[in-house]
Amino acid sequence: MIEFIGVSKYYQGRSAVEGLSLNCPQGAFTVLVGTSGSGKSTTLKMINRLVEHDAGQIRFAGRDITATDPRQLRQRIGYAIQSVGLFPHWTVARNIATVPQLLRWPKQKINARVDELLNLLGFDPALFRERYPHQLSGGQQQRVGVARALAADPEVLLMDEPFGALDPVTRTAMQREIRRIHQLQGRTIVLVTHDVDEALLLADRVVLMDAGKVIQQGTPHELLSQPASPFVRAFFGSHEPGVRLLSLQTVAQRMRSGERCRGESVPHDLTLREALSRFVESGVTTLGVTDASGQPCGVLHFNDLVAAS
Ligand SMILES: Nc1ncnc2c1ncn2[C@@H]1O[C@H](COP(=O)(O)OP(=O)(O)OP(=O)(O)O)[C@@H](O)[C@H]1O
Ligand SMILES: [Mg+2]
Repeated sequence: MIEFIGVSKYYQGRSAVEGLSLNCPQGAFTVLVGTSGSGKSTTLKMINRLVEHDAGQIRFAGRDITATDPRQLRQRIGYAIQSVGLFPHWTVARNIATVPQLLRWPKQKINARVDELLNLLGFDPALFRERYPHQLSGGQQQRVGVARALAADPEVLLMDEPFGALDPVTRTAMQREIRRIHQLQGRTIVLVTHDVDEALLLADRVVLMDAGKVIQQGTPHELLSQPASPFVRAFFGSHEPGVRLLSLQTVAQRMRSGERCRGESVPHDLTLREALSRFVESGVTTLGVTDASGQPCGVLHFNDLVAAS
């Protein structure tokens, strides 16, 4: 869907991104991680031409982006930026409606969509529709930014540290929400984060950048289990690759489905890493597993989990 071929960007003669080759397949969730200043935000902004590249080629849906009108491009691409970037003199509702309004949706459809998104992101429309950005907390502003990016149902979503200002609870809820949106609608998503765990949780493909270059790209499992260099190993935490690998699998993948047991139970879609914590906290060696409707569907054995890592 999005393809970088030998792309470079220079600021005052210094490269922000150098010879970048990258492929974000249609429907995939690609996560860019890397050190501060490694060129992640620049890479994202080149996709919707907020920043123009100096060398190489960027293709969007098979077409060179320099041959596409930037406004048209941006209508097909939702974008939530690192610094939120809400329009300060516009209400929350109007901010969210930015792109639908550009697309001249009928008023009723816009209003309904704004309410739908406010609900989706945990806001009471009656309380928040008419507020201004300065009347929101940082995390609330960030969530409105995400709502704005989703508003016109874009084919592609670019998100630059969209959950950075959120507390761990809201953050986890938002991560689940974005993963659900991705799975339901098969959108192509490119997300930037500093948070290694967030990257591993969300990504189909992880791209690790340093100093304007791609150091390694692949599935989370590949980067954890076959790091291409000591830098990659260090970035993903050299002490706990086993525990991190556990966060890539769910209880359902390791349980013994023919068995049942008494006592504490966990949902089937819990990660094995979370299950490990539960084992440690409760001091048990087996946990019952429940399916989406809360019915017992198997048993997770501590030993099987250790074997998995
Ligand atoms: N408008 C600009 N003018 C000059 N230099 C810039 C500009 N924007 C970015 N840079 C430089 O380009 C490099 C890459 O910046 P970029 O914002 O892409 O990094 P990043 O990976 O997103 O970092 P962070 O994780 O801190 O957000 C940095 O060295 C930065 O100083
Ligand atoms: Mg950045």
